[in-house]
Amino acid sequence: MKYTTFYFSGTGNTRWAVSEFTNIIQEKGHQAEMFAIDIGTQLTDVQIRTIVNEADSIGFANPIYGGDLPPIMRTFLNRMVGLIGPLATVKNAYVINTYGYVNAFGPKEMQKLLAGSGLTLTAYVNIQLCNNVTSSKPLDRTKLAKRMERGRHELNHLADSLIAGRKRIKGHGPQLLIGAMIRQKVPEAIAKFYQTLGVDRTTCTRCMVCVKNCPTGSIRMKGDKFVFSAGCTACMRCYNFCPTGAITIDGVVADPQKFPRYQGPEASALRDPATRQDDVS
Ligand SMILES: Cc1cc2nc3c(=O)[nH]c(=O)nc-3n(C[C@H](O)[C@H](O)[C@H](O)COP(=O)(O)O)c2cc1C
Ligand code: SF4
Ligand code: SF4
Repeated sequence: MKYTTFYFSGTGNTRWAVSEFTNIIQEKGHQAEMFAIDIGTQLTDVQIRTIVNEADSIGFANPIYGGDLPPIMRTFLNRMVGLIGPLATVKNAYVINTYGYVNAFGPKEMQKLLAGSGLTLTAYVNIQLCNNVTSSKPLDRTKLAKRMERGRHELNHLADSLIAGRKRIKGHGPQLLIGAMIRQKVPEAIAKFYQTLGVDRTTCTRCMVCVKNCPTGSIRMKGDKFVFSAGCTACMRCYNFCPTGAITIDGVVADPQKFPRYQGPEASALRDPATRQDDVS
């Protein structure tokens, strides 16, 4: 059997979860692949159709933003459903969400987005890791390492359920009411987030890391100025991975000593920030 996951990961949490899941499936003797949906990967319509046709089960993985999907994932799902649906043979779909404090999205919302595609949601899991939004609170590395361990167990159960053809729908609960409320407001804030972003010219070294790694291609140079545009998915990648901490939010330059940047679980859990190796690919 072949399990293929399309994923979006702004700062590495979801990529970690999908990569663990992919390894677990392969260790159990099955095939597994993962595809980032970032603009840089440039998945063509033909590729998307071929990937879906060749897989036995299709997964979608993303962080939770305000009880909802990041816009980049919503756009991808709409595109994919338009490209493939309805499939001649119904296929199972699974979802892996990562979140920091509460996942208020839920399987029902996801099933709605897959309507008409021929994909049926048979597994939905939430993996709690940590928040990646700007904060003055230092990352609790021990807590993150424990959550990663719990996440591995959950992903192992997910793999077993999929292989055995069993349903594994988690994430029903009272938190979904919060989701219904915040989904009224958060999408607008996320859509306008790009307007809050800027670059501090005194600390920026013009390395272009932010421009090259933006998953939506929303950072450009116009003359000698950085321009942030609509389409930004508010993933915090530019802010967290700028080597000099020069990305500003609401014009504020946040001192990396006081506002530690979050650079993904492999780089962060139980490791000293001084020895970590940054990697956003
Ligand atoms: C714009 C934005 C909104 C977020 N909203 C939520 C939220 O509603 N609930 C939550 O638990 N975490 C929230 N988070 C935290 C992320 O879901 C969490 O850190 C996730 O694991 C990040 O995954 P990634 O590293 O793959 O991007 C939010 C993060 C961002 C950037
Ligand atoms: S990543 Fe930071 S230092 Fe590099 S160009 Fe962007 S803002 Fe400037
Ligand atoms: S501009 Fe920054 S926050 Fe927006 S999508 Fe690009 S990397 Fe993410």
